[in-house]
Amino acid sequence: MDNKLIYLDNAATSFPKPQKVIDWMVETYTRLGVSPGRGSYDLAMEAAELVWQTRQKLARFFGAPDPDRVIFTANATDALNLAIQGLVAPGDHVVATRLEHNSVLRPLFHLAQQSGIKYDLVGFNEYGHIEPGEVAKTIRPNTRLVICSHASNVLGTVQPVSDIARVCAERGVPLLIDTAQSAGHVPVDMGKWNVSAVAFTGHKALLGPSGIGGLVLSPQLEIKSTRFGGTGIDSRNLMHTQTFPDRLEAGTLNLLGVFGLSAGLDYLVNESLERGHQKEMAMIKRLYAGLSSISRVVIHSPMPAEHDVPVLTCTVRGLAAEDVGAILDGDYGIAVRTGLHCAPLVHADLGTDTNGAVRFSPGRFNTNEDIDRALEAMEAIGKMHPNLI
Ligand SMILES: Cc1ncc(COP(=O)(O)O)c(C=O)c1O
Repeated sequence: MDNKLIYLDNAATSFPKPQKVIDWMVETYTRLGVSPGRGSYDLAMEAAELVWQTRQKLARFFGAPDPDRVIFTANATDALNLAIQGLVAPGDHVVATRLEHNSVLRPLFHLAQQSGIKYDLVGFNEYGHIEPGEVAKTIRPNTRLVICSHASNVLGTVQPVSDIARVCAERGVPLLIDTAQSAGHVPVDMGKWNVSAVAFTGHKALLGPSGIGGLVLSPQLEIKSTRFGGTGIDSRNLMHTQTFPDRLEAGTLNLLGVFGLSAGLDYLVNESLERGHQKEMAMIKRLYAGLSSISRVVIHSPMPAEHDVPVLTCTVRGLAAEDVGAILDGDYGIAVRTGLHCAPLVHADLGTDTNGAVRFSPGRFNTNEDIDRALEAMEAIGKMHPNLI
């Protein structure tokens, strides 16, 4: 057995990053690592221009018309907090789903405790999908926001966002989607789908570094500032700047992160998002087929469809997920993620909330050989006696 790590945890973060992304970060930060938008000297203006170009790239990537409404944040969690707190007020009702990550569930819980908001969570069907009709039924007269995870980080299923957006639009309620697991795998088109807000993270399939993400807003969406500070303009005014993007950004940007994200987007555009996704889905299907023939393995993700994302969650009867993960790592050099994946309600509904589950998530740099090694390992684990663990 060679010592090469087989990294199958790309749903946590993509690894490795393309060398072009790393090189661009080093080169650009070495040359331009100043404070963008805060100075009138050439370097600051050049850095600000690259930040602006990245907002433009992101607006194009997400099908949004206004680059000023691309807000940089630390990650998807930060973007979701910013959106939820900026859009919801005491007394409001929110609809979300049982597919959500804790980055939605916890802000909602917190607001319910602190500000008395109310929320309801729509369940997913046997195919791992949220039915638009169920969302429609859950919307109340005082519902101010609907939130839906675009792709499940446990099941790999992609939600019918344009249909959900239609029922929201018919009721005049904005739809916020969490694209942490979809952006970079499948297209996201806010304009075409009529989605009001998109939260994204830079370090997963967008191939950027950790510490950068964002929120993209439709031109019509009203949202309030929930954090305040320096924006580099109108400094005499104690009122936080209300023009976008400054309304929702305060303090110095993660410039290195913006450079890396920009290079990640270029990489995806140049190397074809679609081709990468097809390769990933071919690997996940190979994995699904192989695991299906191992009798002790229970696959919890539905059969992968073309438009899903490369995530497969399973358990091995009689073994704790944590132990399966430790054996995969220790004996086979395979990195996966075990546990509840910060999505406890999905696991509760799958019945895997006590022992957790094992998540495989290949990325565009994996190969069929990696999948075959994982299958060999799972085959051997499937033969282990439960008492050996
Ligand atoms: C569906 C989903 N939403 C949100 C997040 C949070 O992303 P980040 O950790 O980059 O904030 C994740 C991360 O795993 C996720 O899978």
